Amino acid sequence: MINVALPKGRLGDRTYSLMAAAGFDCPAILEKNRKLTFENPEKGVRYFWVKPSDVSIYVERGAADIGVCGRDILLEYRPNVYELLDLGIGKCRMCVAGPKDFSDQMDRTLRVATKFPNIAGNYYESIGRDIDIIHLNGSIEIAPILGLSDVIVDIVETGNTLRENDLVVLKEIIPISARLISNKVSFQFRHDEIQAVRDGLEKLIKSGEKVETVSLQH
Ligand code: PRP
Repeated sequence: MINVALPKGRLGDRTYSLMAAAGFDCPAILEKNRKLTFENPEKGVRYFWVKPSDVSIYVERGAADIGVCGRDILLEYRPNVYELLDLGIGKCRMCVAGPKDFSDQMDRTLRVATKFPNIAGNYYESIGRDIDIIHLNGSIEIAPILGLSDVIVDIVETGNTLRENDLVVLKEIIPISARLISNKVSFQFRHDEIQAVRDGLEKLIKSGEKVETVSLQH
């Protein structure tokens, strides 16, 4: 069986729904309980739920053969994995955001709050701007409101969080979507099984077939 790390939450629900539609369903995952691993030996898959930001760690270390995670995680942590397919789900944008009236004063170091210090650092380095990175773990939008930072670098999906906190997108840096990733050794030794999943998903996505998202218990 191949081990598949699914990110807990909506992205995991959508990923599982795609996997099931591509022929890798696992009825046990639909049961309402607190179990974290589910398998369907007939289809050769074992799924398990992990924290979204941990998927690439499980895959990199081979505890999972494949998994699904956002491009933001791949760019921030640069895990040593293969990126096999853009699933076209979990779409959002990595943005610089700040107050409506923000204007950058070039004679001052810009204070940037973010959960993504590498992405933010790389972006500002690419435009030659000196910054002071303030590494936070969540609720980033509060930093400019309280004067902890001038701007933030964060994920924007619907834009609701920014709007409701009187912040605006100042610059879109990177488009994000979910990617199918593989452990490098698994890709060599379980190539046919992994390729079958990849090809099944690619065919489904290219067909444009609408896949209903199953809401799962986490
Ligand atoms: C993410 C992100 C934004 C929000 C964007 O936070 O960091 O805060 O979602 O989504 P929106 O544009 O649809 O409003 P998350 O929900 O992961 O919570 P966190 O701030 O605790 O990390």
